[in-house]
Amino acid sequence: MNSNISLAPFQGITTKVYRNAFYRHFPGLDRVFAPFISGVHPEKVNLSVFEDVLPFRENEVETIPQFVSIDHREVIAIAATLADAGYEHINWNMGCPFSRLANKKRGCGILPFPDTIRTLLDEIMPRIPLKLSIKTRLGYRNPDELGKVLQVLNDYPIHELIIHPRIGLQRYKGDTNSDGFAEYLGLSRMPVTYNGDIFHATRYRELQARFPAVKSWMVGRGALINPFLPAQIQGISLSDSEKRERIAGFEQEVFSGIQNRVKNEKKLMGQMKAVWYYMNGVFSGGKQYFQGLKVCEDSRSYRKFADDIVQLPFASDEEIEAYWKLGLKHI
Ligand SMILES: Cc1cc2nc3c(=O)[nH]c(=O)nc-3n(C[C@H](O)[C@H](O)[C@H](O)COP(=O)(O)O)c2cc1C
Repeated sequence: MNSNISLAPFQGITTKVYRNAFYRHFPGLDRVFAPFISGVHPEKVNLSVFEDVLPFRENEVETIPQFVSIDHREVIAIAATLADAGYEHINWNMGCPFSRLANKKRGCGILPFPDTIRTLLDEIMPRIPLKLSIKTRLGYRNPDELGKVLQVLNDYPIHELIIHPRIGLQRYKGDTNSDGFAEYLGLSRMPVTYNGDIFHATRYRELQARFPAVKSWMVGRGALINPFLPAQIQGISLSDSEKRERIAGFEQEVFSGIQNRVKNEKKLMGQMKAVWYYMNGVFSGGKQYFQGLKVCEDSRSYRKFADDIVQLPFASDEEIEAYWKLGLKHI
């Protein structure tokens, strides 16, 4: 069965270069969500803030940009800029757990304030020429919060609701709350996309069996670790040598794409380390190699790391799950 699979946004990792390269080298993905845009002056829009999603024609895969604002003038300005550029769909980030944003009612910090959400929707819905979807959690401080928020959202023509079944205080740790997800799935009038802890295709199939009403799935760290996850979910199989070639092609494309942008070896190394922080987990024993990359400061020693790591055997699902459960700290 063909499932609708989206790649989750990751600030600092899933840049345009990464998203395009991912789509080109790793089959199975239907859409990607871009990391959030913020800091747009409503009267004087600075296009450099949009450089990750503009020009529209550079997207090789259906791309949905995201905002994290609660200022209706800023949201309207962002939506107008994106609509002019050719976009048809925008996503509101109501999930970001970082206190820097959440303390200002942004990201998941808005969830305890359903009235503020209603006021904002009243302002923006008639004025944004784009489909609006929302990416959220069960709450900021407790999992009941989404209940009142849903009563508001159900009154508007929201295109899609993406639910990550944790609360903000958990960030990305601790168990996901499947019962909470089940409850809100039943209450939502909007089509719901599931996001959270899909670390291998078996986990996906367990979730699919539990939530047959869900037709759309968002993969995050699971795909950053194992970029063949979308293919495995879709039932597309690739030989190990094909997989190795694809990872090498992807890595080289991301490397040169970032190199063209940053023109600074230190930043280039920083961004490649962020990519490999996750992707080393697709290889059995990749973590030891990654320890070596951590101290790498120039592209020559980086190249040796990249050429060597792709020769390792691929990790099993059990190894990937164990790697995941050890706790990913890049947050
Ligand atoms: C480093 C990092 C950056 C993230 N950036 C964003 C972002 O810009 N927008 C967003 O909606 N979610 C962001 N997320 C959350 C992910 O998109 C995703 O919802 C989360 O990792 C849960 O999915 P997973 O368990 O499949 O990884 C980020 C997460 C991490 C760890």
